[in-house]
Amino acid sequence: MKGVVFTEFFSFVEEQHSPEFLQDVINCSEIASKGVYTATGTYPVCEMAALLGSLAEKTGTDVSRLLLVFGEHLFGRFADGFPAMFRDADNAFDFLASVEDKIHVEVRQLYPDAELPRFEVIEHTPSRFVMVYTSSRHLGDFCEGLIRGCLAHFGEAATVGRVVKEVDPNSVIEFSIERAAA
Ligand code: HEM
Repeated sequence: MKGVVFTEFFSFVEEQHSPEFLQDVINCSEIASKGVYTATGTYPVCEMAALLGSLAEKTGTDVSRLLLVFGEHLFGRFADGFPAMFRDADNAFDFLASVEDKIHVEVRQLYPDAELPRFEVIEHTPSRFVMVYTSSRHLGDFCEGLIRGCLAHFGEAATVGRVVKEVDPNSVIEFSIERAAA
């Protein structure tokens, strides 16, 4: 997992709690890096799992919920950090439709060793958008958070449903997003 995800996660925990609380979370997690990450470095995804586990224990919030809220927050950070990626889409469905062939392609140019999921868009109408997430990293909750963050970024009200299609070796999840009637 890219260091940028870890550094953003640390800012997120600091913002929600405090620098001391973050240090506590790091100290309680068994991680080889000892919490020292650079944005362009690459680290084992199990370190994120360990950090999330400690945060869940300390806050009494389950890991799924933490991943969802972090994904939602991270989308806003991406929007601030990568404005060029937002030039061509003026609504959430168009943006989501461009993640596989444009956004993550650009991410791979920035970070050649990024481990990215695969997305297939299976329905894209003005009121309904359906995409299938496939990944060996099983980050469906994080994905839902990014989708919710994308809707919030474009100021759109919608419901997000998900159906798990496969769990092993890959997570395959169908996300259905229905725009609320205006
Ligand atoms: C400007 C927008 C975006 C940027 C800059 C971006 C960038 C990234 C980066 C840097 C990673 C980490 C790769 C790694 O750790 O090796 C990542 C992973 C991921 N991205 Fe994006 N992303 C964007 C939008 C989205 C959106 C809208 C979605 C959801 C539809 C999404 C879904 C994911 C997921 C689920 C992962 C985790 C890896 C996995 O599940 O296999 N991303 N993205």
